[in-house]
Amino acid sequence: MANDLELVDVVKKFGAFTAVHGVNVAMPQGEFFSFLGPSGCGKTTILRMISGFIDPSAGAIRLAGRDLNGIGPNKRPTALIFQNLALFPLMSVADNIGYGLMVRGVAASERRKVVDRMLELIALKGYGDKRIDELSGGQKQRVAIARALAVEPKVLLLDEPLSALDLKLRQHMRHELRALQRRTGVTFIYITHDQGEALAMSDRVAVMSQGRIEQIGTSTEIYNNPQTAFVAAFVGENNALAGKVTAADYGYGAIETAFGKLRAANPRGMKPGEASVLFVRPERVRLAEAKAETGSDNVIESPVLDGVFEGPVANILLENLGSERPITVTLANDGATPRVSRGERRRVRFSPDDAILLPPAGAAHGAGGHA
Ligand SMILES: Nc1ncnc2c1ncn2[C@@H]1O[C@H](COP(=O)(O)OP(=O)(O)OP(=O)(O)O)[C@@H](O)[C@H]1O
Ligand SMILES: [Mg+2]
Repeated sequence: MANDLELVDVVKKFGAFTAVHGVNVAMPQGEFFSFLGPSGCGKTTILRMISGFIDPSAGAIRLAGRDLNGIGPNKRPTALIFQNLALFPLMSVADNIGYGLMVRGVAASERRKVVDRMLELIALKGYGDKRIDELSGGQKQRVAIARALAVEPKVLLLDEPLSALDLKLRQHMRHELRALQRRTGVTFIYITHDQGEALAMSDRVAVMSQGRIEQIGTSTEIYNNPQTAFVAAFVGENNALAGKVTAADYGYGAIETAFGKLRAANPRGMKPGEASVLFVRPERVRLAEAKAETGSDNVIESPVLDGVFEGPVANILLENLGSERPITVTLANDGATPRVSRGERRRVRFSPDDAILLPPAGAAHGAGGHA
């Protein structure tokens, strides 16, 4: 399509330090794409390269097939929204929204038309004459987006734009941002270290660690089929049981853990003898009957460390042999949640289809990275 954005083997070095290692990704026009990763993993550096504030050390960034190298930030069809929004607090809402157009020499009458259209888009009709410092956090957020969209960018870059807002407003703004993106059809590139935010809003997510893309996929792919231990542990809650692979066949593997032998899906094709980590989500672990269960289900028995009631769910924490991090079992509050007491030994089980074997974190790079 016309305005697809491509990053091809993009590298960024700061002196001897490599902040971004050969990133490859193609985003079709109109996609809501997120970069998700912990602090310092290179997210902002990628956005700054796309917007033209810094140049890649190697590789290419292309929009609609055209290399953006050498095109300054003001000449690029991109707009960037910073975490602190960088609005002009004493200026009116209308002047803020029209600012980019004024800089570009657009006449006042034309500017007013665009500003009115933008105010409607962000549901702040009639707010044009208010000063920025008279607005709420969420309203400021919307003005920052309107200001960026007013210059009709092909790509809107958002650097953790919700991090200054309180939790309720942040969750509300997720929906607003997504709706705005759908209405405008502009490509949104969103960066965040909040996995809930990334999963809730994005068409696709790139999970990053230490300057590399670990995996690119839809929210469900990232959550249900992590390709690396980093992704499995970083995105959502996960139970990790380390051990050594003892058998592998037909897409499944067996691993010898501190709890004995357990079976899981083996999408990476791990081989007998290899160190591995079995991951199973807390909501996929169930309480087992008091009597031993046999068959293909994996059964673990361990003392209860704690039970934590959280309203819609309850978490039961079990001692994890050979690890500081307890095993968490998440039970829906369906009115039949069983009582557990601290210290009591409990059996839990999970299906091999709900668990996955992966190489330990940092074992090897290059699982994902291309899309
Ligand atoms: N101008 C610079 N000079 C030297 N090192 C830099 C520069 N800018 C960024 N870095 C380093 O590059 C790495 C990636 O930084 P970046 O700002 O992209 O991280 P980030 O993923 O956006 O983190 P955060 O979530 O904290 O914003 C960090 O280790 C940072 O210290
Ligand atoms: Mg950053």
